[in-house]
This record gives sequence, C-alpha cells and structure tokens, in this order.
Amino acid sequence: MPDFAPVEYVIAATPFAAAAGGVAWQRYAPHSFWYGVGYPLKAAQVYGTWHHVASGCGLTRRRRALRWSAEAFPGMAPVFRHRRRLGRVQIDKAPRLGVIRPTARGLRVPMRLHDGQTPDDVRAALDRLAHAWRVHAVRLHSWKPGRVTLLVTGADPLVDVDLADLSAGLLTVVPAVLETGEPFVMDFRAVPHWLITGATNSGKSTLINALIMGLTTQLASGEALTGEPAEYEGQGVALVGFDLKGGVEFTPYEARMSALATERADCLALLDQLIDIVRARMALCRRHRARNIWHPRISADVRPTPIVVLIDEIAELFLMADKSQKEEVTRAATALLRLAQISRAFGVYLVVCGQRVGSDLGSGVTALRSQLSGRICHRVNDEATAEMTLGDMDRAALAAARQIPANMPGVAVVIGSDGLWHRARSAYRTEEQAEDAAAFYAPLAPEWKTLLAEIDTAGELPELDAFESEFSDATTPI
Ligand SMILES: Nc1ncnc2c1ncn2[C@@H]1O[C@H](COP(=O)(O)OP(=O)(O)OP(=O)(O)O)[C@@H](O)[C@H]1O
Ligand SMILES: [Mg+2]
Repeated sequence: MPDFAPVEYVIAATPFAAAAGGVAWQRYAPHSFWYGVGYPLKAAQVYGTWHHVASGCGLTRRRRALRWSAEAFPGMAPVFRHRRRLGRVQIDKAPRLGVIRPTARGLRVPMRLHDGQTPDDVRAALDRLAHAWRVHAVRLHSWKPGRVTLLVTGADPLVDVDLADLSAGLLTVVPAVLETGEPFVMDFRAVPHWLITGATNSGKSTLINALIMGLTTQLASGEALTGEPAEYEGQGVALVGFDLKGGVEFTPYEARMSALATERADCLALLDQLIDIVRARMALCRRHRARNIWHPRISADVRPTPIVVLIDEIAELFLMADKSQKEEVTRAATALLRLAQISRAFGVYLVVCGQRVGSDLGSGVTALRSQLSGRICHRVNDEATAEMTLGDMDRAALAAARQIPANMPGVAVVIGSDGLWHRARSAYRTEEQAEDAAAFYAPLAPEWKTLLAEIDTAGELPELDAFESEFSDATTPI
C-alpha cells in the first residue's frame, strides 16, 4: 500500500470537500450561493460570449474601425511572409453592455443601442438571447433613448408561487407574481377596470379568490385595520358581485359583499342602481368642484365608499336564448358600457371575467373591452378570446398567451399600469380560504342601502350625456 503523508490526503481531499460544500451551499442557501458564485460566473459568461451571441442573434452592426491586419507582402512572399499594418477594416460590432447586476432570480443587463436600433429590434431577439444564455427567459425591462435594460430570469419563478400578503394599501391588491419575481400589482386607482379571460380550469376563479381576499380586509378610509372587524362595521371597501352562473361562484362570499345579482333581471336592476350611484357622486364632485372623488377638495368624511364590481362569466350577460331576451340583453350591455365609461372617476371599478369574450357576443363587447385597460389572459381555447384580451395591446403578448401550458393553471399574460406585458401566476387561494376570509371580514361590508342613500341625498341627478363633456378628462387614470 502506498505510503501518503497526512498533508497529501488533505490536498487530495480538498477538491472533493469544496465540491460537496458548494452543492450543500447551493441546496441550503440558494440565495447567497447565487450572489456569491452563480452571478459572477453567469455575468462572466455573458460578457465573454457577448460578441458571438450578439452576432448570432442579429444584434451586431457592420462598422469601419482601426485594426491591425496581417497581409502578405506583395512579390516577396517567400522572404517576408507577413507584415502587420494598421488600417480601417469592416468589422461586426456588438452593442455595448453596461454593468451587469444581479437580481434575486437572475440578471439585469443594460445595453447601449447602435445608431438606428430601437427597443423593438432587441425585443425581436429576446427568445434567441434566452437560448444562447441558457436561461428561462429574457425580457425587455425598460428603455430610455439609446439604451435598454434586459431582465434575465434563470429558472421559471412561476412553478412555485407564494404570497403572504395580498393587500397592498387602499384598492391595491397583489394577487399574483410576475415572471421577473416581482409582485403583480392591481391598483384600481391607476388601472380602474380589468378584463380577465381564460378557458375552463385556467385559474380565473382562483385569481378572483386572491383578489377578494386582498380587498375584503381593506377599509374605505385607506387606514390599516388594527382591531377586530366588528369595530369597523360597514367601513370596508364595497364589493358587488354579478354571477350569472346561478350564483355558484360568488354566493360563498356573499357575507362580505354589499350586493349580489345572480339572475339577469337582478343584474339589470343592480346596474341601474350603480349608474345612479355614479350620477350621485357626479353631483357631489360638481358641488365640490372636483374632477374625481379622490380630489383634495372632497374631504375624507364626505368621500364616498369605493365599490369594486366583480362580474363572472360576462358571456352570460350578453347571450340570449331567444329573441324575447334581446331587449334585456341590449339594456344590460348598454348599462355596463355606460358604467365602464363613466365610473372610474367616481370610485366604481370593474373586474370582468369570462371564458369566451369574442366580438360574436355583440358589438357592445368590443366597446366594453376598450374601457377595460387592465388585461389578464389565462390559457384560452379559442383564438378570438386571446385576440380580444390582448390583440389590441401587444402582438407579442398574444403569442405568449398561446404558449401557456395546460398543466400550469393560474399562469396568465398580464398587462397592467406599465402597459407592458408579463407572464404571471396567481397565488393559490382556494374557495374555502376566500370564503373564510369573507365570513371573517363580513362586518366590514357596507350595507347596500347605505350606498343607495347617496342617491337620495344627492338631489337632482345630472344627466349622463352632460357628463361626457364635463368630466371627459376624468377618464384618464387617477
Ligand atoms: N395559481 C394557481 N396555482 C396552482 N393551482 C391553480 C392556480 N390557479 C388555479 N389552479 C388550479 O386549477 C383549478 C381550476 O382553477 P379555477 O377554478 O380558478 O379555474 P376557472 O378558470 O375559474 O375555471 P371555470 O371557468 O371552469 O370556472 C383549481 O382548482 C386549482 O387546482
Ligand atoms: Mg371559475
């Protein structure tokens, strides 16, 4: 048996010990491993291969530059084989990269564009970049003149989504996580109306559960709830449900809702009441010379309660079994469109859900869609619905929505306040969890008759046609 000194054993074992330590580090402290080891290696790989990758992805430009070139010496080849010469030659030049910084889930890569290049040129190459860098995704994070920032995500953060706190302030809910690892914020004061689509079992109701759980806890005043819900009776943000699937979706949350309609006739009446509430608030805004209810001239004690209207299965509202229902359907469609057009400045926000939302439901749907600026498109079965949800926003978003796999329910393509599209996945909240939350926070629900009282105290309600010109600015986000 060979005779090794102890120090030789130590030297031989060192690489194995280091490798085992690295594996354990990565396994038990992935974050610090990423910042300490993964990030420097990945950044070095991106810098080291950048010229090659940019050329393969079509991001280089032909440039003339000063270079040393080796040329044969004419006529004297056997004697002087080569001679180095400085001259201008054509080269492929890659866009310059800035300092690559780590994020929790990947990298942020700043890039300076070549003259004549636009962010769209880079956007067209994002998939190719992701493959070249062997990462899950590369997205265009932001841009300013002449520069873009790419966000590189190493692994799909949507495989396992965990969110503890769904409420993030008045009328702001965080029901999902973006592919970048950042929270997906639904801020109703920035983006008042939302369209949520998806095939059956794609995750619409789960998203609504998370949304309801985020909103149930919120006080209309915007203050944080500190004591027991019973101490804040009737002071919460109001929730109103339209559930034309016979009430199966929203009835479990009825305790926290101020009103719920499950039949078309009830829906019509409720829509009319909502429009009258909006008209009453319009009168209030006029009295205070304010353009919206959040204006400082409207003090907190007279400011009306914000109302979030949740509509499940919009197609049911628009579909008619026979001609006799035509008038009802037209009235419902018109009322909903009116509400969508006028309500945002007056604290009434819409969340419209549907499996199928196509122009075949009637011309009112396209007009309604244009008012619903927040979009969430889960996996869909028909092209028309994806087109309806995202087609007018960004064609690339449409392509991403088509690729949502069936085995990832809750994944959606979202477009929010930044106007950019992202892949996101909702936090998994079951119907039971949402039902428990609705029951627990039930005392917060403002009474519907209290909200209707606004109409009686408003005096003469303004005509809506007059509103269109007077409050036309109020249609911009507030
Ligand atoms: N974010 C999520 N994470 C994990 N699983 C999810 C998520 N969202 C949905 N699911 C799973 O998918 C199932 C169906 O979701 P959901 O009931 O929300 O679909 P839906 O779009 O409302 O369907 P329908 O149109 O039939 O009402 C859920 O029971 C749940 O198991
Ligand atoms: Mg559902």
